[in-house]
Amino acid sequence: MSHDPGERLPGVIELRPATPGDVSALMELWEVAAENDARPADSAAKIETLIARDPEACTVAVTAEGRVVGSLISGWDGWRAHLYRLAVHPDVRRQGLARRLLTHAEARLVALGASRIDAMVLEGNDLGQSLWKDSGYEPQEDWRRWIRPVGTA
Ligand SMILES: CC(C)(COP(=O)(O)OP(=O)(O)OC[C@H]1O[C@@H](n2cnc3c(N)ncnc32)[C@H](O)[C@@H]1OP(=O)(O)O)[C@@H](O)C(=O)NCCC(=O)NCCS
Repeated sequence: MSHDPGERLPGVIELRPATPGDVSALMELWEVAAENDARPADSAAKIETLIARDPEACTVAVTAEGRVVGSLISGWDGWRAHLYRLAVHPDVRRQGLARRLLTHAEARLVALGASRIDAMVLEGNDLGQSLWKDSGYEPQEDWRRWIRPVGTA
């Protein structure tokens, strides 16, 4: 029998695409649960733009009571596949929810045509790194991301 990464979760936590109605809950989740250093600031408008551009890209984990307790963005541009904003609320950590979000996103990206998936992980985020390592990801030591801020925000 295949292993369901969510099987240890108490109660029912549903994974579904985020809708515009989830935007404020996502902002609140990321304030308390996400890796927030060294990146452009989040905004409700940016999440709305993401949902409008690809309604399946942002997955939320929602309790039976309707509380958003997890998230993962899986971006597919037709060429490369990237994961962003993997976050699980501290109240429900270490119960397999991140693994479940990851399995869900990987299946979506593979179905879209991805042959490799990447995630940006901060040096020093030992918690995040333990999850990625345990899930089969490894740092690509011979590459470094080059960036230039553009626009106004
Ligand atoms: C990292 C994070 C998403 C993990 O969420 P989670 O739902 O608790 O993770 P899971 O229960 O699915 O754990 C999956 C695996 O990750 C590793 N892991 C997760 N939490 C860990 C911890 N506190 N210590 C050590 N390993 C841990 C383990 O290998 C674990 O497997 P195991 O429970 O079978 O040992 C969550 O802690 C979080 O939101 N952290 C802050 C945001 C963040 O750093 N996100 C990653 C950005 S790169």
